[in-house]
Formats: sequence, structure tokens, C-alpha cells
Amino acid sequence: MIIGVIGSGAMGSGIAQVSASAGHNVIVYDNNNDQLHKAKENLENTLNKLTEKDKINPEQSKTILNNHVFTTDLNSFKECGLIIEAIVENINIKKEVFEKLEKIVSPECILASNTSSLSIASISSACSKPERVIGIHFFNPAPLMPLVEIIPSISTSEEIVLQSKKIIDSWKKTTVICKDTPGFIVNRVARSYYGEAIRIAEEGIADYATIDWAMKHYGGFKMGPFELMDFIGNDINYKVTESVWEQFFYDPRFKPSLTQKRLYESNRFGRKSGKGYYDYSHPNLPKANENEELGTEIFNRIVCMLINEAVDSVYLNVASANDIEVAMTKGVNYPKGLLMWGQEIGWQKILNQLNNLYKLYEEDRYRASVLLKQLALDLKKIEL
Ligand code: NAI
Repeated sequence: MIIGVIGSGAMGSGIAQVSASAGHNVIVYDNNNDQLHKAKENLENTLNKLTEKDKINPEQSKTILNNHVFTTDLNSFKECGLIIEAIVENINIKKEVFEKLEKIVSPECILASNTSSLSIASISSACSKPERVIGIHFFNPAPLMPLVEIIPSISTSEEIVLQSKKIIDSWKKTTVICKDTPGFIVNRVARSYYGEAIRIAEEGIADYATIDWAMKHYGGFKMGPFELMDFIGNDINYKVTESVWEQFFYDPRFKPSLTQKRLYESNRFGRKSGKGYYDYSHPNLPKANENEELGTEIFNRIVCMLINEAVDSVYLNVASANDIEVAMTKGVNYPKGLLMWGQEIGWQKILNQLNNLYKLYEEDRYRASVLLKQLALDLKKIEL
């Protein structure tokens, strides 16, 4: 099957590399010729590095490169069986591209979007056959991150879901299926890792370094929330938070923070701009206050918010409990599944923690999921 990829930026070129490595011929389209050249150059460099490190042999490197065709002509997509769009995150531009595409491709061709925050239903509304439109959401960098979220819209046919899953599984990725809801699984459940950490810092309970230390030391997370936001980029991370919040009709649980908005507004994006929560021009980053009582208070508060969101996602059928566990461990490298973690800590304990926060702040942000209450009362069970 010939694969089409639209957009040769960070995601599009990664997705193309993955499909070409799985043996497909892949056509990469971009409306910016310079970007296409850059993508080809980057691919050559990547393949050279992989060859030097003995991850692939020179023959494989050649095949992967030869499997790519770079083009600025959308008509080249005629023979494709699956097209994955990874252009700018703008609904009107995406819809325009999907509308054009449908006039070029065969009736069987699957049309997918790699959008991280837009609704698949809305993208598919540009098509006369919305049943063949689906979300196929890779994580950055696509060649390295194992998780792919598969997102059928309310119009997507069952057959297209199965076909899409089969293709992406054959690329040695781990797929999960989730509902067409804001943030899908990972970008929804992970929100409180950032949001609650910022809130704790805003209240002056602890500084960034201490919060990062607490989550790594007591939670086993590879990166603390502030390090991670600086790594992802506060521009991207802030925009995703804002978009998820807006799409949930301003549910306070997903409310963005002014602290991060100000960083975003001041171009303090994090590592890539030299400054974010931390100043990377300093040889040493600030030291944490490694106080056990403070560290566990921080960890308990953030982890109970994360677990509550994972439980609520099960409650609202965003995905199966198993897929939620897989998504958080493979998509953002959480040290363990949040539902398993909840079971280990004890549902009642998590509920008590949330109820205490709710009583203290009287904010809907801390409301417990109905399912968490049922789990605490032993009225329901989550099978993992
Ligand atoms: P990017 O800015 O690196 O690349 C976008 C590419 O699309 C550019 O090469 C641009 O020239 C091209 N483009 C823009 N408009 C076009 C059009 N009308 N026709 C053809 N090409 C066009 O963006 P990135 O980061 O690769 O993101 C692409 C998509 O993937 C977005 O929907 C984003 O939300 C999603 N995504 C991004 C992730 C990330 O961490 N960067 C992770 C997962 C999804």
C-alpha cells in the first residue's frame, strides 16, 4: 500500500520515516518547497546516524530513503491507500486540504489526521465520505515513541477503524482506540500533571525545582512537570491546555494557568528558547528543597488529580481501562498505569484527598469522578 503524508514538518517527516521503514512507498507532500528539501536532508542525516550506530545497515538505509518521494503536487496521492495529514493545527486549513484530497484519491483511500487537539468530526465534515476519515495521532518524535491513538469520529465506519489499526500495528506501534473527545487520552489525562504543579507553585507551597524533585523522587516520573513543560515547549503545552479547556466548555478542571500564559506571551518557551520555568543559560539549575513532608504532600496532590482524570476517562468511555494504562505509559512514559496506581494507593484514600482539596478551595477543579466514588464504596471495579 502506498502511504501519503501531508506536511513535512516535525511530525509528517517522522511518520513518513516510520512507514517507509515498515516497507511502504511513501509520498510526502508539502506546500513549502524549502521545507520539503529540509525534510529530505534531515532524513538523510538521520539515516546516516542510524547506520553509524548500527541500528540499520547501509542497504536498509538506502531502501528507506528510496521508499520516499517528496512532492509539491497533491495529485501524486492518486494511488495512496492511506493518507495521514500533519500540517499546521488550524481547522479551516485542514478542512480545505481534506476537501481537495477527496477529489483526487480513490473511494477506498483512508483519510487520517494527526491533529492533537481538533475534533475529527469537524475535520471530516469537509468530506463527502466522512466515514473514511479518522484520527491517527502519533507522538513526537514519531520514529521513537511507540504509542499511536486511533480516533474514530461519530461518522467513521467500523471497517476503517479496523483497517487503520491493522496498518499502524504492522508498523510496530502500540495502538489504542479512543473517543473523539478533547485531548483524546494522553493530552487529556496528562493535563493535571502540569496544571496542578503550576497551581502548587503559584500558591507558594514549593518552587519549580522542589516540585520536579518530588514527582521524580516519590513518583518515579522521568521528568518533573516543569522540566517537561520546558522540554515540550511552553508555546505548544500552553496552546494544548487552552484548546482542551475551551473544548470542554471551560470546565475548571482543565483551566490553563496565567503563569504559563505569561511565559508563552514572553516567548519563554523553555529549552528551545533558552528560558522557560528555568533559565538554561545558567550552568546549574536551582536546587530542590528535599523535605520529605513537603515532597510527599506535592506528590499526593498531583497524583490524585491524575488518577481522578484517568478514572473519569473510564467513566465517560473515552477508552478502555487497558488502553488508558497503555497510553499513559507508552505515550508519556509514566512509570505505571494510573488506574493500577489508584488501586495500589486505594480508591478511598484518593477520594479523601480530592474531597479535602474540594472542601478547602470550593472549586469544581477538585471534583471527584462519579466512578471514583463508586470505586471507593466498592460498588464498581476496574478490570485491568
Ligand atoms: P510543523 O510546523 O513542524 O509542520 C507543519 C508542516 O505543514 C510544515 O512543513 C508546513 O510547511 C506544512 N503545511 C502547512 N500548511 C500546509 C498546507 N496547507 N498544505 C501542505 N503543507 C502545509 O508542525 P508539526 O509539529 O509537525 O505538527 C503537525 C500536526 O501534528 C499538527 O496538527 C499538530 O497538532 C500535530 N501534532 C504535533 C505534535 C508535536 O509534538 N509537534 C505531536 C502530535 C501531533
